[in-house]
Amino acid sequence: MKILVTGAAGFMGSYVVDTLIARGGHEVYGVDDLSGGYESNVNPASHFTKLDLRQKKEVEQYIANVRPELVYHLAADATEGRSQFTPISATERNYLAYLYTLVPSIKYGLKKVVVTSSMSIYGAQKSPFTEDMKPMAEDIYAIAKAAMEESTKILAKVHGFNYVVVRPHNVYGPRQNLSDPYRNVIGIFINCLMNNKNFYIYGDGNQKRAFTYIDDFNPYFVETGFSDKVNGEIINIGPTQEYTINELAEVVLQTFFPDGNIPIALKPKYLPLRPQEVMEAYCSNDKAVSMLGYKTSTSLKDGVAKMVTWAKTMGPQPFHYLEEGLELETSEVPATWKNKLL
Ligand SMILES: NC(=O)c1ccc[n+]([C@@H]2O[C@H](COP(=O)([O-])OP(=O)(O)OC[C@H]3O[C@@H](n4cnc5c(N)ncnc54)[C@H](O)[C@@H]3O)[C@@H](O)[C@H]2O)c1
Repeated sequence: MKILVTGAAGFMGSYVVDTLIARGGHEVYGVDDLSGGYESNVNPASHFTKLDLRQKKEVEQYIANVRPELVYHLAADATEGRSQFTPISATERNYLAYLYTLVPSIKYGLKKVVVTSSMSIYGAQKSPFTEDMKPMAEDIYAIAKAAMEESTKILAKVHGFNYVVVRPHNVYGPRQNLSDPYRNVIGIFINCLMNNKNFYIYGDGNQKRAFTYIDDFNPYFVETGFSDKVNGEIINIGPTQEYTINELAEVVLQTFFPDGNIPIALKPKYLPLRPQEVMEAYCSNDKAVSMLGYKTSTSLKDGVAKMVTWAKTMGPQPFHYLEEGLELETSEVPATWKNKLL
């Protein structure tokens, strides 16, 4: 079968490609514009094309040539906190780029799409979030993800293809972009320490999240593409154990300084909460357990240790702020971005 993975040079997409190739028996195609991913993540056994999915005509041409039967859509501007300051980019790179991929795919023989959504769509409702909760977006990124989900449901009903929606939460691990100052909290903490700088915590650090090590996400996610019983379903994938950001900071610091002697200059500093930041966001995984046999195998401590080991092989990275700047440079821009503190 011909399978297309979008965001194939990104963190999660590159693992999807590797797993599909390891399964064997399929032709695996990958696209990515390399805005957030790395060419070094691309599996050489896949057919990779550098392609910006916002380019409607080029995407249509590409899909017409490849004619994928199964699409794993992961390409995204996955910056929830920044999306309030780049709402146009968040819509173009998330919602529009998805439609530009989905519509020609349907035209040219799509059988199933795996939609990578996000826990962010639950907004500020009471955690743990269950899949039957209505989307109540608190940010522009979540609006785009909810629009992707709803559009898929409607188009699938009208045009007759299968789909599954997966809502991951805070996935981390080796290959994650370390130099993005706008997202990936664990990567930011690690990269700051490797650069011999303190990191910043927004608010009082009591926000709660559950963190998913990549190996506790990827195999289940790939399986959703092949399993018929998940067709038409929405599934949260990830652990249920929640941590505060302060607890996460402690785990990262302990990994760097196991003897507990943290240099004063490297202790975290606190800044006001980012606009629209949700205080408690973690999910129920009952559905993933029953439908996919989901099991959490990697603790936060072990996962962070593995990521730090990998990050040290990469070495300290400079943080890359958007060259073109934010779309909305208002007084609400967090100081870390306004003053390039990282
Ligand atoms: N990492 C998480 O914690 C998390 C949580 C929830 C949902 N997700 C979703 O999972 C997916 C993968 O996230 P990730 O963490 O691997 O992010 P990532 O940034 O590593 O991967 C996304 C990839 O999409 C590519 N991309 C962006 N715009 C593009 C465009 N216009 N055309 C082609 N390629 C484009 C980027 O270059 C990048 O390689 C995304 O859809 C994201 O929204 C991630």
